[in-house]
Amino acid sequence: MLVTQQKVLRRFWYAIMPISKLDAGPQPFTLLGEKIVLWKKSDGTPAALRDRCCHRTAKLSKGFVEGDHIVCGYHGWQYDCSGSCVKIPQAPAMAIPAGAKVPAFPCQEKYGYVWVALEDPLKPIMDIPEHAEGSYRCIQQFDVSWKTGALRLMENSFDAAHFAFVHKGTFGQFSQQKPEFFGITETDYGFEAETKLTINNPPASHRITGTTEPTTRRHFRNQWHLPFNRRLGLNYPNGLEHLIITCATPIDDENIQILQWLYRNDTEADCPAAELNEWDLRVIAEDKEILETVDADAPVDLGRRVEQNMAADQPGLIMRKRLLALLEQHGEQEVHRAAKTIIPIREVTTCPL
Ligand code: FES
Ligand code: CO
Repeated sequence: MLVTQQKVLRRFWYAIMPISKLDAGPQPFTLLGEKIVLWKKSDGTPAALRDRCCHRTAKLSKGFVEGDHIVCGYHGWQYDCSGSCVKIPQAPAMAIPAGAKVPAFPCQEKYGYVWVALEDPLKPIMDIPEHAEGSYRCIQQFDVSWKTGALRLMENSFDAAHFAFVHKGTFGQFSQQKPEFFGITETDYGFEAETKLTINNPPASHRITGTTEPTTRRHFRNQWHLPFNRRLGLNYPNGLEHLIITCATPIDDENIQILQWLYRNDTEADCPAAELNEWDLRVIAEDKEILETVDADAPVDLGRRVEQNMAADQPGLIMRKRLLALLEQHGEQEVHRAAKTIIPIREVTTCPL
């Protein structure tokens, strides 16, 4: 599926960057191939426009903010958050032409991040009740780009069959190549997956897991929220709760921005954020190493028969089924690379789902 070609994907909210980044002035971002500029208005709320001045096409992200407006860095034309040009400094007496506008996009701040939808959103941003609860702290972890597809990152997040191999240097146990329990329930937002397996604890920090034991039998409750968001909940035996939010925001057909943050019901004194981030950076570096070798274009229509499957692929196969259904509901077909670049698999093994 080439995400930039599937129009319905423009109708979801995507996490773009921590809102604190806008303190440095307007910032560019590419979302689903659309170049946008983000800035912070005087009331602290963000705004998003196409990153292209309607005068001589300069990038507005090279400009600056004045009050609620963004000012083009080339000749100083000023735009409000609806994209209307409100000032042409060289011609103050001239009526501003009706066509002096750039497209504006729905934009809001939530959970400390800027979120943008390119068209009328189909549903609200996923709810994270812990954000408003005083017993949890929020830790911003990563805001990085990878050369992979958003669906690839999501299915990797729910793929318990890769831990023993990709993560054998951190939490994965090479002897445990599938979890002892795996269950999945489809929901309106996507699905909830329940996994029980034993993992290696970080050897250098007992504070991350709150235990000095070398391993923990973990019980994960994870949610996939259409199209590319994950909520991963870990409950430790000592009552520690560790919640990971991961958003795979599609930049274009080959690249994503990964935004990840945590909620924990402990304090910085119990476990410094730097320790948590250092461990998780090691874990995601293992995923990056392999995921960047995977074709970014993940098929959602299994009838294309370009990949083999096994039973442990169930989460990713449900994602594909739901994404294909979403396309069909909106009158779209899956768009993928020209057939000559795809190597079809002639014999597809029967996959017991
Ligand atoms: Fe933006 Fe001229 S290109 S004001
Ligand atoms: Co992984």
